[in-house]
Amino acid sequence: MSSEELRDPAIRIVLLPKDTNANGTIFGGIILSHIDLAGAVQAKKHTKERIVTVAMKEVIFKQPVLVGEVVSFYTSTVKVGNTSVTVSVDVEVFRDGEDVRVTEAELTFVAVDKAGHPTALKAAN
Ligand SMILES: CC(C)(COP(=O)(O)OP(=O)(O)OC[C@H]1O[C@@H](n2cnc3c(N)ncnc32)[C@H](O)[C@@H]1OP(=O)(O)O)[C@@H](O)C(=O)NCCC(=O)NCCS
Repeated sequence: MSSEELRDPAIRIVLLPKDTNANGTIFGGIILSHIDLAGAVQAKKHTKERIVTVAMKEVIFKQPVLVGEVVSFYTSTVKVGNTSVTVSVDVEVFRDGEDVRVTEAELTFVAVDKAGHPTALKAAN
């Protein structure tokens, strides 16, 4: 079994007609919101502090996502900083018997205190 096959998705979801754009395919903003959530799931592995998204790098939609497809958001940690965690999110659909990468993104999350100021990461248990 390859390391690719061992990956766990942070989120796996089937999207519905309510999530479509004017073309009847899935609205990009819906995918972006799930990318943000999946990235947060990964970042939270590194801190018990509250986190906020500070950056989402260029996102290119290579293929449309269709209603009813199983969409998986696979995550991994790219960098752990002082107050920030950078993660990557790969988005894939299972189509015609194979996994198809529809988009990918790199996001940075920052741990913040009660006042919303950056604070050092504290290990999540
Ligand atoms: C996130 C936030 C608290 C950072 O405040 P800041 O004063 O810019 O923080 P700093 O300059 O001290 O940087 C804090 C960390 O973020 C990282 N960072 C800041 N801007 C970044 C960027 N554009 N891209 C990547 N990392 C960034 C820094 O490298 C630093 O990481 P490190 O401590 O691991 O080295 C502030 O910008 C904020 O509140 N943004 C709004 C967040 C939000 O509400 N997101 C939801 C979407 S609206």
